[in-house]
Amino acid sequence: MEMRKIGVLGCGLMGSGIAQVTATAGFDVTVLEVEQKFIDKGFAGIEKSLAKFAEKGTITAQQKDEIRGRLKGTTNAQDLRDCDLMIEAIIENVEEKKKMYAAIDAVVKKDAVFASNTSSISITELMAATKRPERFVGLHFFNPVPLMKLVEVVRTVATANDVYESVFEFAKKLGKVPVRTSDKTGFIVNRLLVPYLLDAIRAYEEGVGSIPDIDQAMKLGCGYPMGPFTLLDFVGLDTTYYITQVMYDEFKERRFASPPLLKRLVMAGWYGRKTGKGFYDYADPNNPVPGKF
Ligand SMILES: NC(=O)c1ccc[n+]([C@@H]2O[C@H](COP(=O)([O-])OP(=O)(O)OC[C@H]3O[C@@H](n4cnc5c(N)ncnc54)[C@H](O)[C@@H]3O)[C@@H](O)[C@H]2O)c1
Repeated sequence: MEMRKIGVLGCGLMGSGIAQVTATAGFDVTVLEVEQKFIDKGFAGIEKSLAKFAEKGTITAQQKDEIRGRLKGTTNAQDLRDCDLMIEAIIENVEEKKKMYAAIDAVVKKDAVFASNTSSISITELMAATKRPERFVGLHFFNPVPLMKLVEVVRTVATANDVYESVFEFAKKLGKVPVRTSDKTGFIVNRLLVPYLLDAIRAYEEGVGSIPDIDQAMKLGCGYPMGPFTLLDFVGLDTTYYITQVMYDEFKERRFASPPLLKRLVMAGWYGRKTGKGFYDYADPNNPVPGKF
């Protein structure tokens, strides 16, 4: 099964990164958004990231222009009709995603494959919103997509073998390292990572340490590249909060439940780096100031 034209649904943090690596690997990419302003914002981010790669000499200025030339943005789902693979990275909300799948299913070609980048929602549930269960997989990238090597390729009970293997090979063509996993909430990485991040918030709530001290401790004590609060702000508190709801609903275990502080920061609209405030304040992005809650 050849995959040449790729549709990316959503041009936020993840969708823009996925579009960038896919165009960098030589594929033609059409990115669908709800409004032009989100395409502009996402493409500006891509431009900045490509400029950094060009500065470092990873790509030439000419390659940068060619990559940009392979990227198209649209707000019209009809523009995806020729795509062979649809990679969905819209907001982590099951109802929004189901609505999107039902709409896209009706306009794209019958043999197109759907891949969701969801972090926590059941791939099987999303698949059921379409009429192509055997052509539906999870393709879970990591943030920031241009730098992170891992992709989890998720199979449901209904995924056809050739579809799964084609998507697995596609991930390799992007220069990523795919791993195989099944449709269990959180897959491999979030199943293990999310309880750790939530425990860091609980430790803070219980007065174990300050935000910068917990971050520093986990960096220097465990050799992690960043501490849990820096990582939470980077991933997005809204996304993390939604993930906790889905995981708690699935497992009914406290380790997957949102601590009150996470919920309150989300209700306040403090989503982390993307809104300028989360566990840290990013008024000066080079010098984040830890919050005291
Ligand atoms: N943030 C992370 O670190 C991370 C990592 C892996 C996977 N994910 C998953 O990737 C997905 C996207 O997360 P994100 O962090 O990029 O979120 P985001 O909020 O940065 O971007 C979501 C984008 O989707 C767009 N959108 C919403 N409804 C849409 C629709 N109907 N059609 C087209 N576009 C629509 C929004 O306008 C927004 O630009 C989620 O499923 C999330 O779980 C996130």
